[in-house]
Amino acid sequence: MDKMFSIDRMRERDLKQVVEIEEASGLNRWGYDSYRREMLKNPTSVLLVARRSRNHALEPEVIGFFAGWTVEDEMHVNNIAAHPRFRRMGIGRSLMQTAIEIARPCGVRSVVLEVRASNMSAQSLYVKLGFRFIARRRDYYRFPTEDAMVMKLEIEEREGELMIDD
Ligand SMILES: CC(C)(COP(=O)(O)OP(=O)(O)OC[C@H]1O[C@@H](n2cnc3c(N)ncnc32)[C@H](O)[C@@H]1OP(=O)(O)O)[C@@H](O)C(=O)NCCC(=O)NCCS
Repeated sequence: MDKMFSIDRMRERDLKQVVEIEEASGLNRWGYDSYRREMLKNPTSVLLVARRSRNHALEPEVIGFFAGWTVEDEMHVNNIAAHPRFRRMGIGRSLMQTAIEIARPCGVRSVVLEVRASNMSAQSLYVKLGFRFIARRRDYYRFPTEDAMVMKLEIEEREGELMIDD
C-alpha cells in the first residue's frame, strides 16, 4: 500500500504551512523569516517536510517538518513536528530517519537535540530511534521555563546500512 505521505526537501512555498504547524505544536518560535533565512543562506541546514501523497483541497499539504543543521560530524535538531491531526502515523520517525540519511554521506556520525523535560511524546520517539539522555540543562527553555534534556544518537554503520532500531 502507498504511504499517505512522502518526505521532501522544504521549499519556500511550504513555509507558511510549516509555521502554522510550528505555532500549533507549542515549539519555541522560529517563524517564517528564520526558516527562510536558513533555507536561503545556510548551506549546512537540513530542512524537510512531510507532504501528503494524495492531497485534498481542504486538507493541509504539509503535515510535518524537520529543521536541523550539521556542524562537522554532528547534526543538531532545531525543530521537528507533525501536524496535530496527523500524529502517531510515523511522520516524526520518517522525518528524523530521512534527515539522518541525508546527513550521513556528509560525514555526520551523531545527532544531538534538546527536548523539554516534560515532553514525553518526543522523548519516546527519540528513545525508540536509539537516542540516549546525555545531560540536563537547567531552565533552558522559556515560556514556560523548563529544563532541557539533551539527547544523542550515535549513528552506527554496518555494510553501508544505517542502523537504528525498528
Ligand atoms: C514528537 C512528534 C514530532 C512525534 O511525531 P509523530 O509523527 O506523532 O510520531 P511517530 O508516529 O513517528 O511515532 C514514532 C514512535 O514514537 C513514539 N511516540 C510518538 N508519539 C508518542 C506519544 N504521544 N506517546 C508515546 N509514544 C509516542 C512511539 O514509540 C511511536 O511508535 P508507535 O506509534 O508505533 O508506538 C509529535 O508528537 C509532535 O509534533 N509533537 C509536538 C512538537 C514537539 O514536541 N516536537 C519535538 C520538539 S524537541
